[in-house]
Amino acid sequence: MNPRMSRRMRTVLLLLFICTFIFLLSSLRSPATDDATNLEPSIPAASKLQPRVPDQILLQQSSEAEPAPPVEVVTPQVDPDAERKNTFVSIFENNGWGNPESRSGPGSTVRNTARIRNFIDTVINHFSIQTFLDAPCGDCNWQPGIPSFSKIAYTGADIVPNVIIQNMRKYLYKPNMRFVNLDLAMDAVPHDAFDAILCRDAIQHLPLEDGLKIYSNFQRSGAKYLITNFHDPRKGNFQNTNIKPGDFYHNNPLLPPFNFSLPLFYTIDASDEHLVQNMWERKYVAVWRLPVIGLGNGTAFVPDEEAAKKGIVPVSDEGRSILEELGLLRSA
Ligand SMILES: *[C@@H]1O[C@H](CO)[C@@H](O)[C@H](O)[C@H]1NC(C)=O
Ligand SMILES: *[C@@H]1O[C@H](CO)[C@@H](O)[C@H](O)[C@H]1NC(C)=O
Repeated sequence: MNPRMSRRMRTVLLLLFICTFIFLLSSLRSPATDDATNLEPSIPAASKLQPRVPDQILLQQSSEAEPAPPVEVVTPQVDPDAERKNTFVSIFENNGWGNPESRSGPGSTVRNTARIRNFIDTVINHFSIQTFLDAPCGDCNWQPGIPSFSKIAYTGADIVPNVIIQNMRKYLYKPNMRFVNLDLAMDAVPHDAFDAILCRDAIQHLPLEDGLKIYSNFQRSGAKYLITNFHDPRKGNFQNTNIKPGDFYHNNPLLPPFNFSLPLFYTIDASDEHLVQNMWERKYVAVWRLPVIGLGNGTAFVPDEEAAKKGIVPVSDEGRSILEELGLLRSA
């Protein structure tokens, strides 16, 4: 080959190489991804919550083209943290609880929360609660209707990033409300940041291990009071049952593996008569003074349904004297 020819070839090749390089570089820094996210309100801790791809699934995919190994069978294992998040993201995106008013389900309508709003109001006023964590908060449909709501600094936390973004937009002009994206089974609740924590309708939809992690998280945070649900121990299977995320069991935190000590007082959670009549929705709400885990003997008290329909019912001696003081104790 003559030398001039090969020099021209080299120049052409060099140019081609440079063009390809520039093209690759420009496609890497596509502006679409960077800028769009900056417009969204920032979601704390959201990046931590990207679903992780389990190693074993990756292994399976990469070996698809090759002949299958003769003996070793790799069972695809679901990453429980990713499964938990994906389940609740999917329920929210598809309105999985199927309620037209609240994507957090029929339990979260304004009508159905009249009783629990009054209960929370009593707790806030009696214990002079100033900082309040609602975990999980869902779409925060009914919480601003708590009578003393304007007196508290309210923080709503939820595992679903989009519900947090939606709440931030909806309540942008409420200075006492903030929202954070947290997976309560993994992300620590800030220490000494909250006087009281509300955890409603959550543990009953999670595996027992997750429930224990979440309650422990609350207890470690140094919060003083926990408001959460329990079911009549005679309902369902009479015990806490391990389930998949998004399924349901009749949870009772006084029973193993939680073994809570006695709450102060309780009432029936639902107000909607249709739901109150429906056995599957028979559910109470109580307030505990933290710590609680493992401090009970693993047996649950049987709630007084008739008394709870009429008002707030004491359990511990301390609860009894508080209700007496408030003039809320009905003579038996
Ligand atoms: C467990 O504790 C409750 C409440 O403190 C008490 O009423 C009950 O008798 C105890 N049960 C056992 C088996 O010790
Ligand atoms: C809970 O109570 C049961 C007895 O009812 C006991 O076997 C178990 O060890 C207790 N667990 C904890 C964590 O306290």
